[in-house]
Amino acid sequence: MTSAASESTAGRAPGKVILLGEHFVVHGAPALAVPVERHVKVTVLRQPGAWDVAEVAIPHLRAMLEHLGEDPEAVTLRVEATLPFGSGLGGSAALGVALVRALGHRDEERVRALAHELEKLAHGNPSGIDDTVSAYARPVWYVRGETPQPVEAPAGLPLWIGLTPSGASTREAVAGVGRLSREQPAFFANRLAEAKATVQAGLEALKVADWPELGRLMRHNHQLLVDVGVSTPLLDRLVDAAMQAGAFGAKLTGGGLGGAMIVLAPADAPIEATLMQHGAVDVIAPQDTNGTGQHG
Ligand code: MEV
Repeated sequence: MTSAASESTAGRAPGKVILLGEHFVVHGAPALAVPVERHVKVTVLRQPGAWDVAEVAIPHLRAMLEHLGEDPEAVTLRVEATLPFGSGLGGSAALGVALVRALGHRDEERVRALAHELEKLAHGNPSGIDDTVSAYARPVWYVRGETPQPVEAPAGLPLWIGLTPSGASTREAVAGVGRLSREQPAFFANRLAEAKATVQAGLEALKVADWPELGRLMRHNHQLLVDVGVSTPLLDRLVDAAMQAGAFGAKLTGGGLGGAMIVLAPADAPIEATLMQHGAVDVIAPQDTNGTGQHG
C-alpha cells in the first residue's frame, strides 16, 4: 500500500487575457478578462527530492511555499505549463493557483485569497484580476475591492494573442504607472476616467457579441495604455499591422513593456501571418482563447 507521505497531488490553473482595463484596474477602474486554454500544472510530492521545474521559477516557488507555511525542503515539485510565463498572460497567478490547489486547497474563495497573497510576492501591488480569473476559470468583470462578477460571454470570441520576444515585468510597469499617477495627477485622472467608460461600454459589447464595437474600444484602450507609458514600439507596430489586416481592434494585454497583445478580428482576416511578419514570435489562435478555461 502506498503511504500518504509518498502520494502526489496536482493542481491546474489557466492563464488569462485582459480584454480591457489593465493598469487602470490597479487605480480603481473596472477590468474585463477571460481565461485562456493554456494552463499551468503543479504536482506536489510530500517528500524531499529533485524538483522538475525551470531554474528561473525555483526562487519564486520556494518563496511561495514558505509564505504558505510549507517547508520547501520537505516537498518535491513538478511544474508543467502550456502557458508562456512572463508574457502578460497571468503566468505567475496561474502558478500560484495551481500550487495552492496542489497543496490540497479546494474551496474557490480560499484558493483565490491564497493565490492573491502569492501574487503580492510576484509583483508587489496586484489588483487581483489575474488570480481571480485563474481561480474562477471564467470571464470576469473585476473592480478592485469588490466581489468579482462572472460574465456570461458568448462562446467563440474571435481573439488572437500575439507574443513578443521580450518578457514583461509587471512589477516595473505597475510601478511606472503609479509614478505617473502621482507626478501628473490631472493627466492620469483624465485617462482613468476614459478607461472606466471604455471598459463599461466593452462589457455591453461583449455581452451581445458586438465585435466591431468591442474592437473599437480595445483599440482606444491601447491608446490609453500608450499614454501611460506601458506600450513598446513593437506592440504598437503589431497593433497597427493587425488593424491594417482588417481587425476590429487590437491592444497590448497585461502588464505591457513587452509580453503579449490581442487582436479581435473576423475569422478570415490574415492575423496570424500578419503578426508573425511584423515581429511576433508566436501567435495563439482563437480556439485557444474562447473564454472557457478549465477548472483545475
Ligand atoms: C497584469 O496582468 C494586470 C495589471 O493590471 C496588474 C494588476 O492588475 O495586478 C497590469
